[in-house]
Amino acid sequence: MEGFDYICKLDELQEFKGRKFIINDIEIAVFKINSEVFALNNICPHQQSHLIYDGFVEDEFVVCPAHGWKFNLRTGKKDSGSNGLDSYPIEIKDSQVYVKVHPKNLRW
Ligand code: FES
Repeated sequence: MEGFDYICKLDELQEFKGRKFIINDIEIAVFKINSEVFALNNICPHQQSHLIYDGFVEDEFVVCPAHGWKFNLRTGKKDSGSNGLDSYPIEIKDSQVYVKVHPKNLRW
């Protein structure tokens, strides 16, 4: 799992409730949905609120609590399909969760 960093144990994530982590200076929002784990950048492109982790999860989207922009949990894209948040690959091994973060790709 080259390039992956440890986040937490799988059972430290609650279903449908996001958590914020800082991995290699990148702030991420991590969600566990039906035992699948997703990681997105935590900073909303709308007004740069650091609140994505606190968003409501609906279908495969997380809703920014500030003004309701929606982002796909798998891709980070907005519900309109346009650029949204960076998303990061997750690996789970021995009930431990790892992420591979990268510097920002998407332009706002
Ligand atoms: S800051 Fe996220 S929708 Fe406005």
